[in-house]
Amino acid sequence: MVSHVAVIGLGVMGGALARNLARKGYHVVIYNRTHSKAENFLRHYGHEGKFTRASTLNDVLCKLPTTKIVFLMLSAGKAIDIVSDELVAEAHKRLEGDQLSIIDGGNSFYKDTMERCKRYDEKGVEFIGLGVSGGKEGALLGPSLMFGGSERGWEWTHEVLEKIAAKDFHGKPCVTRLGPNAAGHFVKMVHNGIEYAIMGMIAEIFNLLRATIGDRGLGISSDSLLEHPDLGGFLLELMRHVVRKRELGSGHPLVLDKIKDIAGHKGTGLWTCQSALELGCPIPSIQAAFEERAMSAQYAVRSVYSDAMKPSGLKTTVSAEGLMNRVYGALSLAIRQAFSQGLILIRVASKKYEWDIDVQQCTRVWEGGCIIRMPLLREFETRPKETLDKKTKGLIPAKEDPDEPPTADEITREVWWAFSPEFRKIAFDKKRHHQLQELIHTFVDAGIPCHVLSSTLNYVTQMCHERMETIPYIQAMRDGFGGHGFERIDLDGRYNLEWTIHAEE
Ligand code: 6PG
Repeated sequence: MVSHVAVIGLGVMGGALARNLARKGYHVVIYNRTHSKAENFLRHYGHEGKFTRASTLNDVLCKLPTTKIVFLMLSAGKAIDIVSDELVAEAHKRLEGDQLSIIDGGNSFYKDTMERCKRYDEKGVEFIGLGVSGGKEGALLGPSLMFGGSERGWEWTHEVLEKIAAKDFHGKPCVTRLGPNAAGHFVKMVHNGIEYAIMGMIAEIFNLLRATIGDRGLGISSDSLLEHPDLGGFLLELMRHVVRKRELGSGHPLVLDKIKDIAGHKGTGLWTCQSALELGCPIPSIQAAFEERAMSAQYAVRSVYSDAMKPSGLKTTVSAEGLMNRVYGALSLAIRQAFSQGLILIRVASKKYEWDIDVQQCTRVWEGGCIIRMPLLREFETRPKETLDKKTKGLIPAKEDPDEPPTADEITREVWWAFSPEFRKIAFDKKRHHQLQELIHTFVDAGIPCHVLSSTLNYVTQMCHERMETIPYIQAMRDGFGGHGFERIDLDGRYNLEWTIHAEE
């Protein structure tokens, strides 16, 4: 039985996690580089449980029993290395034979986590990359936890993690060992990518609703979106609060008008996009959401052209009810597409890095505590009886060389057909696809941009075309200027055409 744990870093997330641990009966050793922060923490929350303040990192270790579990709640980057190196060095000096687990609960870049796991493993220390989602409230009341680390690391720490985690739809802790080394941080990174995409979609929809049905309709619309059987979840709940938020004191209309139109990011969205590009895995909804934030920084251009190209004004003739129907269908399809893109990316990375992540476990730990928790995650719980049906065009052919890594197509096929029929039905539903098209028409008519929704529409539309008609043009042009060659449908092998192109032509 673990009795004591330590938390290093008492920022918003670290402080909340320390309180969560204390409320669950653990004796929490706290440490912050700026001591006044730890003193402040004790003044405010000391009465909530058993806390002991450590004065140095060595003191942290001295105050823990033989099983030493240390949560690092620090900003991603160098700080993790500096603190972990010192902890490992001190542990080696003084506490030989003890079990030391260092849990990095920040949003660290997964490649850093891979490297750290390897480095500390050589020193007999369990380094765990733990994705923690749910913001301050989640950390305090029960976060979703995405564990990446060795089986031994899981053995040493799971009891504590299961106690502090949120609960899934069946009352089980929202934590599991997703795989070795960086599996947990990778899954958390993609969770954030999906979070970016869903936030982008919802923001686009509320912007359109505001322009069409007006401020007064926003409250009712947000209620109905939250209650819709295919939708709901934390982000729509949050939006319900956002559209009702008024200036303190003055009660002035929507506080939205006062917020500067620049959105930053802390890294995970960018890394999701970079990883997807690196792994050759399309995630257009997430990419568009990230690009939208990047675009928000280009004020200079917008300020010039906003005069030249004023939106033509709203031309939509659709009724409020008709518009809401489009929104329900479009959003329920688009959100599922964001999940599907993210989960396929997880699986592609899992194959490459040999993490063996079960995507169903990812969606299970997302059922409670995290930012993307929503009722639709229940749709991932059932595995289809027949993982492949006639639409999969048969089984994946056996490879001549069994060690040859699977192609992106094979992985996508495997993940896609492991989704429940219920999920697949909505994600590629004809009617909802049409409603998304109609909704995009409304945006276009109103002269309002919709980066994430339109990228999602293009993705779904493309995936509904067996043949990608643009690609032969691209292949032919590549052959024309670079002699890159192409494959043919009717013949085996690679081909080049005879080209006689001159500048004058
Ligand atoms: C969560 C959040 C959390 C945070 C991120 C994203 O799951 O609790 O995703 O990790 O909000 O830092 O922040 P950015 O939007 O700034 O990248």
